[in-house]
Amino acid sequence: TETGSLSIVVLGASGDLAKKKTFPALFNLYRQGFLLPDEVCIFGYARSKLTDDELRNRLHGYLVPSKDFSPEQLEEVSKFLHLIKYVSGSYDSEDSFCNLDKEISEHELLKNSTEGSSRRLFYLALPPSVYPSVCKMIKTCCMNKSDLGGWTRIVVEKPFGKDLESAEQLSTQIGQLFEEPQIYRIDHYLGKELVQNMLVLRFANRLFMPLWNRDNIANVQIVFRENFGTEGRGGYFDQYGIIRDIIQNHLLQVFCLVAMEKPVSLKPEHIRDEKLKVLESVLPIKDDEVVLGQYEGYKDDPTVPDNSNTPTFATVILRVHNERWEGVPFILKAGKALNSRKADIRVQFKDVPGDIFKCQKQGRNEFVIRLQPSEAMYMKLTVKKPGLEMETVQSELDLSYRQRYQAVTIPEAYERLILDSIRGDQQHFVRRDELKASWEIFTPLLHRIDKGEFKSTPYQPGTRGPVEADKLLLEKAGYVQTHGYRWIPPTL
Ligand code: BG6
Repeated sequence: TETGSLSIVVLGASGDLAKKKTFPALFNLYRQGFLLPDEVCIFGYARSKLTDDELRNRLHGYLVPSKDFSPEQLEEVSKFLHLIKYVSGSYDSEDSFCNLDKEISEHELLKNSTEGSSRRLFYLALPPSVYPSVCKMIKTCCMNKSDLGGWTRIVVEKPFGKDLESAEQLSTQIGQLFEEPQIYRIDHYLGKELVQNMLVLRFANRLFMPLWNRDNIANVQIVFRENFGTEGRGGYFDQYGIIRDIIQNHLLQVFCLVAMEKPVSLKPEHIRDEKLKVLESVLPIKDDEVVLGQYEGYKDDPTVPDNSNTPTFATVILRVHNERWEGVPFILKAGKALNSRKADIRVQFKDVPGDIFKCQKQGRNEFVIRLQPSEAMYMKLTVKKPGLEMETVQSELDLSYRQRYQAVTIPEAYERLILDSIRGDQQHFVRRDELKASWEIFTPLLHRIDKGEFKSTPYQPGTRGPVEADKLLLEKAGYVQTHGYRWIPPTL
């Protein structure tokens, strides 16, 4: 492991993302001993003029979410907050960034005295419109200068552009300043426990290998639901819509891990090569394999235009043109203001050939990975109904994490990803060519929606979304619903 000073600079330190996600994740890493007080300094950077203590006070509430923190825990919070310094400045001024560099260098001198490398992580918790100028400033003023090694890395988050062209433009601008190994594009779904488990599940289990293909699998659904609307983010959301907010990034990344071939090794480049390959095998999306929806009341938000056609719900079928998946629909579905909050992957197997139990109408086998909440994997099976009669019933093999791993706290996605960026592991980050391929898939559809050529169907908040989406699933994707079966997460 590397040693020496570690400077973590959170740009946009007073914004929502920083307060809600970045700093709490850093705190959790600190608590677990991954950020060492004699190496690390965290710099919060933003435009407002604040003192160190003012920033610390603002962050305090986000780090102490409940009232029943023990005195020891509060002590930890306070020690952590003292690792944070605030630097104010604008996002396009060399003077401000040179001042930031001076602060970082002072910290490095203090921590390293005579030896040690200089590690500098810049976390851009900022709107992408300022990425190019901020990257330019970092490159001009704030690069690691130690002869003893170290690095400078930047962490950025979506939205990376609005379509293929703008995304490529942004990539080019950043790419002129930083090399790919210095750029960490976060998709926080890649930090979720059960998303990371996909690779292990698929490639470390003999059980799945022979089944994971068009001969056995009828369809795959990757579903994201939220039971609340855009709540205060209407202005942002209306510019993007559900496809750019969830499907083109989060669900598509999950899709890659479900559908890709086995990588040559676990090296990040090998994994990302396979993700790229499967993205490039996706066929153009067909109009009649898309359903868009917008919940009633969405436009009541004063920041949303009255004539907005922005979808808050979408179901899109992807088709993969390769030997493994020809003919298997992958249904990507996401919606806001629905009747539940969850994300899962549902792999539905084909019917049993030559079925001798047919008259009893058993359901199809399904393998479900519940990404959140209540992380679980369960396999829906038909078994003999216990008792004297030879009847069948739907049941499941259930691996519920809360029950199986009672002593384990599942880390937050951001926690893991920030740690990876410090360690220099890009496995769970999106490579530039992957990003490009993902925009290639969705850009034609997005342009038509933007032009108003593709309309969103209204749906009632608190429902499953437009009924057309369920019809699409049954008619075009061949999904067969098992009636009367419900998985109930086990309680402890
Ligand atoms: C973000 C989207 O990327 O992911 C939000 O911008 C969404 O709209 C969020 O609510 C969902 O993340 P999670 O981890 O709560 O599923």
